[in-house]
Amino acid sequence: MAIKYQRIQGTRDIMLAEVERWRWAEARWSEVLTRFGYGEIRTPVIEPTNLFLRSVGEGTDIVDKEMYTFETKGGDSLTLRPEMTASVVRAYLENGLTRQPGTMKFSYMGPMFRREKPQAGRYRQFHQVGVEAIGSDSPVLDAEVIRTAMALFEAVGATGLTVKLNSIGCPECRPAYIEDLKVYLKENLEKIPPQMQGRIDVNPLRLYDAKDDGVQNLLRSFKPITDALCESCREHHRVVTEALTALGVNIEQDPALVRGLDYYCRTTFEITANSGRKQSSLCGGGRYDYLIEQCGGPPTPAVGFSIGVERTLLHLDDTPVDLQRSPQSAVDVYVACLGVDAQQVGFLAAESLRQFCRVEVDTTGRSVKAQAKSANLRRARILLTVGESELAAGTMMMRDMDTGMQEPMVRAEIPAAVQEVLKGERE
Ligand code: HAM
Repeated sequence: MAIKYQRIQGTRDIMLAEVERWRWAEARWSEVLTRFGYGEIRTPVIEPTNLFLRSVGEGTDIVDKEMYTFETKGGDSLTLRPEMTASVVRAYLENGLTRQPGTMKFSYMGPMFRREKPQAGRYRQFHQVGVEAIGSDSPVLDAEVIRTAMALFEAVGATGLTVKLNSIGCPECRPAYIEDLKVYLKENLEKIPPQMQGRIDVNPLRLYDAKDDGVQNLLRSFKPITDALCESCREHHRVVTEALTALGVNIEQDPALVRGLDYYCRTTFEITANSGRKQSSLCGGGRYDYLIEQCGGPPTPAVGFSIGVERTLLHLDDTPVDLQRSPQSAVDVYVACLGVDAQQVGFLAAESLRQFCRVEVDTTGRSVKAQAKSANLRRARILLTVGESELAAGTMMMRDMDTGMQEPMVRAEIPAAVQEVLKGERE
């Protein structure tokens, strides 16, 4: 029996019309990112496991449960990147960019891997478009980064979004809050499911990520982290809020927004879709002023975000692409050929036509009628046919599919004639 291969659970095939949609979005995003001053970075999808243990942090869902980690035959532990911030920081340090003056602004688009339970909008291989701005601690940069995220959504026409904003303090003010939180959680241990109790000592802020209603209610009754901020964090948060408000960005303060990664300090934010769908978080980000130092670099403040591409496209349009029906990409000229000799002639003709337009040479050996039908499906403007008589005469039959006019044409004259018809179309 033939083996039936299936894609790995939680992964997707992106094909044909759907890829066209991705490219459309990617082109718009590239334009916006350039306008906001970002240069692109592409890093490997595999990294040393330690990079994520140290940055995303042990005790987080990503590190504890979701990473694709494997040992190589040489005994190294590698991980498929679950996110990009750590990789960008690694690349920034490894390529000696710490002495560059000013803020380094990186943007990226690419696949990430997390072993989460698959469902609509949640995949094990998914894609992010995002930015990391490294080298400034100004709250105005936080506002600009959030504005960049909104501009990316606007560029693809995504509306119905809420920007949630919070500050989770810094190493000056957060430890005291965490200590108070630990005491409070231990006093209420019976309300916390046993499998989560371990987090209280390791990483109590991670309980904010818990989906459990009891835990969420418990945390809601505890003082918000914004009440525990030191003076400079409070001022930073005030300016971020003010700068965004001045730009007309509507924000919702959300004191429970601590985010599921350890490297954040001060600003954290998420952009969510008001659609009622389960996976409503389209974008997450924040400041990480201590991560670069933690990874062995000089103290360097930074801020960034990542947008989930699949979730954003789902938010734009619920209708899945029907691959069986989706037309292949359109062509300008379709060459129908009877026999291999005719195909060779068609192939040669295509060579010169492809200097200026899209051409498909049919090599299926089907009837001319069937090939003409394909020309229609591909929305060709011109059908060139090479049958026995054309082969013998050194011509091709050229048909304008819009007007239905057709005439035999000497091969050498075809490029100019095609150009003439298409010129009329493009005017
Ligand atoms: P994150 O919140 O883990 O942040 O992910 C950002 C976005 O990626 C989410 O809002 C969501 O749209 C998308 N996403 C995450 N997991 C999945 C999944 N399993 N399937 C589909 N989409 C998903 C980060 O990754 C940080 N690196 C953001 C950042 C950049 N912070 C600072 N700089």
